[in-house]
Amino acid sequence: MYPIIDRQELAKGNMVLITVEAPQIARKIKPGQFVVLRINETGERIPLTVAYKDLSHGTITIIFMVIGKSTALLGSLKVGDAIKDLVGPLGVTEEFTKLGTVVGIGGGSGIAVLHHLLQGYGAAGNKLVGIIGARERDLLILEDEMKNLCQQLIVVTDDGSYGMHGLVTDALKTLVERDDPEPIDLVIAVGPLVMMRAVCQQTKLYNIKTLVSLNPVMVDATGMCGACRVSVGGKTRFACVEGPHFDGHQVDFDELIQRNNTYGRDEKTSLLFSIRAK
Ligand SMILES: Cc1cc2nc3c(=O)[nH]c(=O)nc-3n(C[C@H](O)[C@H](O)[C@H](O)COP(=O)(O)OP(=O)(O)OC[C@H]3O[C@@H](n4cnc5c(N)ncnc54)[C@H](O)[C@@H]3O)c2cc1C
Ligand code: FES
Repeated sequence: MYPIIDRQELAKGNMVLITVEAPQIARKIKPGQFVVLRINETGERIPLTVAYKDLSHGTITIIFMVIGKSTALLGSLKVGDAIKDLVGPLGVTEEFTKLGTVVGIGGGSGIAVLHHLLQGYGAAGNKLVGIIGARERDLLILEDEMKNLCQQLIVVTDDGSYGMHGLVTDALKTLVERDDPEPIDLVIAVGPLVMMRAVCQQTKLYNIKTLVSLNPVMVDATGMCGACRVSVGGKTRFACVEGPHFDGHQVDFDELIQRNNTYGRDEKTSLLFSIRAK
């Protein structure tokens, strides 16, 4: 069992941060890697990225959006409760090398994943520029943490309630198309699939290498079941063991969006049943 030692609600309760005692995982996990957890004996296995680790306390922190049955149940746990199973670290570790200027673009709970990845690129000596976006101000997370990490941070909201009015792609455009643009060596985009697709379409035009963190449905997360397959450069790749980070210009986002919607009806039904059962 993995005890929860901290819990906070973020973004008007739409997102939850929990810190769990898991010293062995904390020792090994690298930025961008994830865990698969099962809340209780009958729970489904869900993948979540580790946002922070604290070696001195042997803890990992995950930040997740409450979106369906399992995340709602996980979000309802309190400090002192425990998670039944936690497997990790999973996923390929990135090579964090010095490239120059890295622009990190995050949306929704993707900002937590982005923050951990940017820590890796920052430690390698890169200049970091962050662009974070949300529908409205109250749904933004980790603004202060991103401000502390990045040399420059641009905040955008769809409704203009805070920061720049527009989408993350508008902010990227202002960076690239200003009079004295600084060369960008890498863009990292983490967020909803439609956001990552839009960023990749844009950076392809600018010819800037772009890394994305994919979130296909995962079941075993060991490369055996094939649930997480994605098409990258015309080849089938398993995101759990070969990802979740891929060259965004090679990803077939339309196929992935379609695959992720496959169980939409069942997921809604399952959530409704769990609410009624309470
Ligand atoms: C490598 C990886 C890292 C992730 N990291 C984070 C994170 O840090 N924070 C966060 O908020 N979310 C993260 N996700 C997404 C998270 O796993 C899903 O939101 C969660 O599984 C939803 O479960 P649910 O029962 O609450 O919702 P459901 O109602 O079951 O599903 C809601 C949506 O979540 C997706 N989903 C459902 N089951 C799975 C599954 N087993 N595996 C993957 N996606 C699923 C589907 O696209 C679905 O549309 C990550 C996904 C992957 C693959
Ligand atoms: S989740 Fe089963 S192969 Fe990746």
